[in-house]
Amino acid sequence: MKVVAVLNEKGGCGKTTIATNLARGLQLEGRDVMLVDSDVQGSARDWGAVDTETEKPAVVGMDRPTLHKDIPKVAEGSDVVVIDGAARAEKMQTSAIKASDLVLIPVQPSAYDIWSSETLVELVRARQEVAGKPDAAFIVSRQIVGTNLAGEAQEALESFDLPVLRGRTAQRVIYAEAASQGLSVLDVDPSSKAAGEIRQIVEDILATLDLQTARTNGTTG
Ligand SMILES: Nc1ncnc2c1ncn2[C@@H]1O[C@H](COP(=O)(O)OP(=O)(O)OP(=O)(O)O)[C@@H](O)[C@H]1O
Ligand SMILES: [Mg+2]
Repeated sequence: MKVVAVLNEKGGCGKTTIATNLARGLQLEGRDVMLVDSDVQGSARDWGAVDTETEKPAVVGMDRPTLHKDIPKVAEGSDVVVIDGAARAEKMQTSAIKASDLVLIPVQPSAYDIWSSETLVELVRARQEVAGKPDAAFIVSRQIVGTNLAGEAQEALESFDLPVLRGRTAQRVIYAEAASQGLSVLDVDPSSKAAGEIRQIVEDILATLDLQTARTNGTTG
């Protein structure tokens, strides 16, 4: 079982959008996925609660800072657990970091947004020193369509010495539409650009977690 947490102190940077779409994308790749909603706002739970004809990952609410103890008990049979992080909740973040193999940090492409993740990056590094994990990577979120990363955003990212995921999301109406329908963009329109973005993110995560061949050779774990 592998755990990936989508974390950032900053509200509205795309944590829930990435977590829900990633969880569904991993499920479409044949993985047994649990989505853990660690936010008292319960957005991922709301998403999961919308009745849809398409299959969705199970969404479990865990909004106490004991994720690192609770997840191994509850998610025993899952291949992957995706944690949707809460904004402004340092204790929850610390617990999510302890629970994780990989921390994904969504950042909108502005230097201010990237710099504001410094405390989170420090928490991750402190954990890496004692436990040798989790890995961490930035994921660019809500990039304006048709633009490149502004030089200052690129510089801010480089100043952290943390990898930047190849996959990213652009600002697209379909993400908000899918959210309101309780679906992923992969289900709303599999041929959309957004679906292509999520498939890239899924591929990157499977590679990072070393889960590409987990299904065929039985080495899940
Ligand atoms: N790539 C995108 N394109 C268009 N809209 C997006 C995109 N990503 C997120 N949004 C929208 O922006 C808003 C905030 O996104 P989201 O809820 O995913 O952020 P969050 O980091 O989980 O916020 P919070 O900190 O409040 O939990 C939502 O209305 C969502 O639909
Ligand atoms: Mg959220």
